Amino acid sequence: EVTTNEYKIVLLGQSGVGKSCLVLRFCRGQFFENREPTIGASYLTKSISINSRDLKLQIWDTAGQERYQSLAPMYYRNSEIAVVVYDICSEDSFNKAKEWVKELSIKGLPDLIIGFVGNKTDLEKKRAVLTRDAEMYCENHNLHFFETSAKTGEQVKDLFFYLATELMKLPKN
Ligand code: GTP
Ligand code: MG
Repeated sequence: EVTTNEYKIVLLGQSGVGKSCLVLRFCRGQFFENREPTIGASYLTKSISINSRDLKLQIWDTAGQERYQSLAPMYYRNSEIAVVVYDICSEDSFNKAKEWVKELSIKGLPDLIIGFVGNKTDLEKKRAVLTRDAEMYCENHNLHFFETSAKTGEQVKDLFFYLATELMKLPKN
């Protein structure tokens, strides 16, 4: 008998950091320069297999604009993996990402796996958040740290596969 495990993933982070682009890159291999902000949230799935096990990733891509902030708990409440995204060119988005981590630690599932992601590494020249600073923050808060580019695809697959593998290691899975 073949069983497919379904893993629930939510993306959180300030508007414009590239959440939708990361999901689109991972699920469809596409990237668009000028994307409209997400309204409410959007849902995509991606079937992958790790160590011969078939997994269906159910991905909720939330809207980062302030006006949608109150909707977020509906999406992260049942999530087993959270991907908290900031833009490496924006200190402000880094601070916002830290706020999401705080909220998740209070209101998320107790064994929630959190990926902390600095996106837009292709814009290295405009970098505002040092890798070392983000790394240290993640070490102190037990978060899995990645730097990605939805534009070039750098580390995008690695991010989702790594987090799914971590989830697979939990006893219930
Ligand atoms: P909300 O839906 O409003 O929360 O924003 P979002 O986080 O989903 O951002 P979105 O994916 O829509 O990307 C915002 C802008 O950043 C778009 O114009 C993208 O083309 C651009 N962008 C996203 N990822 C990257 C990246 O890795 N590199 C570069 N250079 N631009 C990116
Ligand atoms: Mg979006």
